[in-house]
Amino acid sequence: MNLFRNNRNYTNHSAFYHFRFPCHCSSMALTGSLLAIAFLFSFSGFLGFGISYDRPPPRNTLSVPLSDDLDESSPQQVHISLVGKDKMRISWITEDETPATVDYGVTKGAYNFSASGSVSSYTYLIVYTSGKIYDVVIGPLEPNTLYFYRCGSNSQREFSFRTPPVELPIEFAVVGDLGQTEWTKSTLEHIAGSTFDVMLLPGDLSYADFYQPLWDSFGRLVEPLASQRPWMVTQGNHEIEKIPVFHSQSFTSYNARWHMPFEESGSDSNLYYSFEVAGVHVIMLGSYTDFETDSAQYKWLQADLAKVDRNRTPWIVVLIHAPWYNSNTAHQGEYESDGMKKSMEGLLYGARVDVVFAGHVHAYERFARVYSDKADNCGPIHITIGDGGNREGLASKYIDPKPEISLFREASFGHGRFKVVNTSHALWEWHRNDDVQSIVADTVWLRSHVSDPACEV
Ligand SMILES: *[C@@H]1O[C@H](CO)[C@@H](O)[C@H](O)[C@H]1NC(C)=O
Ligand SMILES: *[C@@H]1O[C@H](CO)[C@@H](O)[C@H](O)[C@H]1NC(C)=O
Ligand SMILES: [Fe+2]
Repeated sequence: MNLFRNNRNYTNHSAFYHFRFPCHCSSMALTGSLLAIAFLFSFSGFLGFGISYDRPPPRNTLSVPLSDDLDESSPQQVHISLVGKDKMRISWITEDETPATVDYGVTKGAYNFSASGSVSSYTYLIVYTSGKIYDVVIGPLEPNTLYFYRCGSNSQREFSFRTPPVELPIEFAVVGDLGQTEWTKSTLEHIAGSTFDVMLLPGDLSYADFYQPLWDSFGRLVEPLASQRPWMVTQGNHEIEKIPVFHSQSFTSYNARWHMPFEESGSDSNLYYSFEVAGVHVIMLGSYTDFETDSAQYKWLQADLAKVDRNRTPWIVVLIHAPWYNSNTAHQGEYESDGMKKSMEGLLYGARVDVVFAGHVHAYERFARVYSDKADNCGPIHITIGDGGNREGLASKYIDPKPEISLFREASFGHGRFKVVNTSHALWEWHRNDDVQSIVADTVWLRSHVSDPACEV
């Protein structure tokens, strides 16, 4: 298995558009951070700093330390993801090596099943060595069932998750550009506030931005949610973390920590894959790996779409990081948006994809069904949901007048809910963070393309 194939030899400046220095430094690895900052200064020209627009002030950045009652052999940063139709990948980290096993079962404290997997680690800029990263696939599992589990035979901590249903209805939480600030915390609280089955994240996870201890902090921040429901993610520009000469590999941390089920979907890269859950075929695309019509990703997408059986999965949903439709002034004209759209929009349209979720722009925007820049009943609805709460703040300037195909736009933090009710209907809601409250600010019923005879699915 090679997680690292198909990584674009990445030189586009816009990918680093958002870069800011980490604004907190724990005493741990201070040397490392100083070194990293020195390296980054020397490459600031290459990275293309300095472009900015007016955004409300971001909230404080969080740093989540290991809790006092845990030690070097305690599992931390536990998160889970779907594998195939009835399995789950359990990922966690320890400082000292422990067994790569997960014990699990349907009764609290009684683990009738056990599975083992692999352990790995990575180094970054010589000064940072990750903890031991575990990767264990468990199953087959019953649908819609609560499981209890422990990691590495460690009985200090018991975790639990619920498997998703096999049939509709199913509910997804959707949020991009999460980061780790006080805003992120409130978004995560709102997500945890009502039940859902699967989390979808269209890129930009930790905003570690080369400072690797922030990946660990992010893992601890999301663990309460990510250990309980599958988190299915794709990469954003903040996951690239390539520094010419000093760290020439892209996506090192992302690939090591967030292994998604690409092998099961016939993909040869962790940067793009698909999965099916209940009646929904979800495709995760990579905005920061090759997407041109002669690329491996394009060919994979074409083959993946050809395999979709609309009787089994009446809905097709696609996630990307850089939006193809965007009327915010932020991130206009980037190749990852315009070039990828030019290459792949026809494929999605031809396959009658229902919805495309994107991140990158730190705001919320919902478009009409579109194709080739025009309203089109058989095109997908495009939704930008890059408003998770990262430290760069909001993208609050819009192009005026509002294009007709943009139906709702607002620069506030929040998250989305995609409730697929049956073959024909789904409810989309955007929950805005009104400080401590979560307010449903946009609601719309979506009809699937299979329920519209005019689109000839
Ligand atoms: C799990 O094991 C216990 C005894 O160790 C047994 O009583 C129980 O029926 C088992 N549960 C399942 C689901 O196999
Ligand atoms: C699907 O759900 C919608 C919304 O609840 C409902 O109006 C419709 O009748 C349902 N269709 C079927 C076939 O059950
Ligand atoms: Fe981004």
